[in-house]
Amino acid sequence: MSGRPERSRAGDEDHVAGLVAGYREGHALAQDFYLSDAVFRRDVERVFMAQWHLAGHVSEIPQPGDYLLFDLLGESVIVVRDRDGAVHALANVCRHRGSRLCLEPRGNVRRFTCPYHAWVYNLDGGLFSARLMGAETDKATLGLKRLAIELFQGLIYVSFADRPESFAPARRVLEPLVAPFDLARTRVAARISYPVAANWKLLVENYNECYHCTAAHPEFSRSHVIHLPDDIAGPLNRAIADRAAATGAPADTLDGTWPNKAAGEIDVYYRRYALFEGYRSGSEDGRPVAPLLGGLTGWDGGASDVYVGLLNPMLVYSDHAVIYRFIPVDKDTSIQDVIWLVREDAVEGRDYDRERLVWLWDVTTQSDKLIIEKNQEGIRSRYYEPGPFAPMESYTQWFVNCYLNLIG
Ligand code: FES
Ligand SMILES: [Fe+2]
Repeated sequence: MSGRPERSRAGDEDHVAGLVAGYREGHALAQDFYLSDAVFRRDVERVFMAQWHLAGHVSEIPQPGDYLLFDLLGESVIVVRDRDGAVHALANVCRHRGSRLCLEPRGNVRRFTCPYHAWVYNLDGGLFSARLMGAETDKATLGLKRLAIELFQGLIYVSFADRPESFAPARRVLEPLVAPFDLARTRVAARISYPVAANWKLLVENYNECYHCTAAHPEFSRSHVIHLPDDIAGPLNRAIADRAAATGAPADTLDGTWPNKAAGEIDVYYRRYALFEGYRSGSEDGRPVAPLLGGLTGWDGGASDVYVGLLNPMLVYSDHAVIYRFIPVDKDTSIQDVIWLVREDAVEGRDYDRERLVWLWDVTTQSDKLIIEKNQEGIRSRYYEPGPFAPMESYTQWFVNCYLNLIG
């Protein structure tokens, strides 16, 4: 992972404003959005230092003193459970002279001891002791810096912003729809990180449309109806509503106009769509891959598209969930993180097989990596000119609009 990118430079403002003003609605973004250093500096400040990020799941830090690190663009965050069970997000930066405090990505500690001069911090970030410092040292003002944190159905979100977007829509409209899957009582069964030689926006744009699925993802397309136009997918999706209701999986749709959100609030989205006949889960052969989630009473043959913010979409089947994270390394390089959740009491080898669980989204993400990298290569060409979006790319257009609002 590279270091923190430099902050904005003089001239960035005008360059980015010119690009945003020149955007042609209904079209892909201009070349400089992907290639310019000024845009990337702006992306870091306005998108990544402002949005909510999925840092982990509560099952990864079940005991007091358990912690994990969430690293992004040169920043490092300690996500830790204290003795009372509360979870904190603390900057991994010592308040003495700034050393990293935690060096291991995961662990369990009684307290955090800085490796440099051995200042010691409590699990809630408060300064416990500062070796050989005078009595005048005001420990109360030297606690670790705290980041905004939200726990949502067992998922841990953090934000680097002083005043992050409000989580209210997630609580108000999304949580009741996701609650039946009881993601708080799941655990991480697998995770794979795919390095992608492309600007982060190409990963998000790709995820947000299934216009490419028929050509690029035969494995996905034979099981999921979402790559079909609405006149074909619509009846199948309406048919699933009854089956979903019978098993306890919400089939409501928070539609793509985001009606439940005001300025300064997080973007949320939920829709359950159908798998093809014979598919009960997102698996190679259609058979379930793990025990039913939460309080569901059966497999409805559906999948829920869920967004908690712009950067962490997930797909929830009846028996597992798949979460995506788009992590920029630099303007030309990103990491596609994929995380699989199964019910907390599911035992590998007995209740699920890891290879069967990850099969679909592993092959699909490997194909995406290739097409995204070829997309980046073409965008670098002198012959690149932004073309028109297809009707099936409406969510990519939605992302582009959200993005332009953020950086504009
Ligand atoms: S930098 Fe941490 S104790 Fe000195
Ligand atoms: Fe794809």
